[in-house]
Amino acid sequence: MRGDAIVLGIETSCDETAVALVRADRRVLSAPLFSQLAEHAPYGGVVPEIAARAHVEKLDQLVSQAMAEAGIGFRDLAAVAATAGPGLIGGLMVGLLTGKTLALVHQLPLVAVNHLEAHALTARLIAGTNFPYLLLLVSGGHCQLVAVEGVGRYRLLGTTIDDSIGEAFDKVAKMLGLGYPGGPAVERLAREGDPGRFDLPRPLHGADTCDFSFSGLKTAVRHRILDLGPTAAEPAIMADLCASFQAAAGDVLVDRSVRAMRRLRAGGGGYRVLVVAGGVAANLYLRGRLEQVAGTHGFTLEAPPLALCTDNAIMVAWTGIERLRLGLVDDQTVAARARWPLEELAPPV
Ligand code: KG4
Ligand code: ZN
Repeated sequence: MRGDAIVLGIETSCDETAVALVRADRRVLSAPLFSQLAEHAPYGGVVPEIAARAHVEKLDQLVSQAMAEAGIGFRDLAAVAATAGPGLIGGLMVGLLTGKTLALVHQLPLVAVNHLEAHALTARLIAGTNFPYLLLLVSGGHCQLVAVEGVGRYRLLGTTIDDSIGEAFDKVAKMLGLGYPGGPAVERLAREGDPGRFDLPRPLHGADTCDFSFSGLKTAVRHRILDLGPTAAEPAIMADLCASFQAAAGDVLVDRSVRAMRRLRAGGGGYRVLVVAGGVAANLYLRGRLEQVAGTHGFTLEAPPLALCTDNAIMVAWTGIERLRLGLVDDQTVAARARWPLEELAPPV
């Protein structure tokens, strides 16, 4: 595949409408993004119907904007890549249908992208990371440890048995009246707080598993807030609650990542890189903890720049490039999927 091949990426799986044009030589030509935050904020979370409508309203103009900013026409494209799942089905259908139409009209190959694979492969766009590597995927919908063996080849080592870590951040933020999305707000407040102030549980800590659990931690925060009564609203106490919660979440990520690193080292196979991806990977405290623990276990941490941790279309276009290179294209019959685990991806033959 030529280095100047350009792929158009479309991302509409949740509350970000995003389009990007990326070249096979890893140059990003344009990446306009519309965040629906203001639309969902009054409801304290993403409302699927509102999200789908906002994607319909914004997507066409974002495609035109991306093409204009890059100064190219559709005949200059090598393929169209659109997120087909997992995520909110209404938004996925909007993005995938737009991608299918563009591919059909302009006679281009179509790549139906798995959103989790897009997060998983971002490190290769940023740093050219070679396979295999250990992936810690931490987002609003997922919390997983995955052995990434190649494009389409993922081995799940552990996943959450209840809430995702992003959900836990968002729920703690909601309890404290910090608004949505809560992750960045909790991180900001935690910087001023004392992580040792409140003794919170570390679910599954030390257990012989790479699985995660966050609901007990979230509930413990709720109980602390109830016990504190009105004092829970004092800025210094809120900061201590956020710092204590974030430290507990960090301990859980570190404990499970260490287990996964040990398992992979014991199994051979040359795993030396820990990649962290997904929205929660934008958290600098958690990145610092993971960097430190990766170092002590002979791994290097690779974390994408913050804008590429949260949802974006650059990672979707890049996944299109990775798949196109291997001839892994889809036809017009491909359907959007609300649920689509990484392990169900078709590996290259
Ligand atoms: O990957 P993402 O943009 O969307 C999904 O695919 O889920 O992740 C969104 C999640 C939200 O739960 C948000 O609160 C969390 O990522 N998040 C953070 C931070 N920035 C975003 N969590 C903790 N600290 C942050 N700085
Ligand atoms: Zn995501």
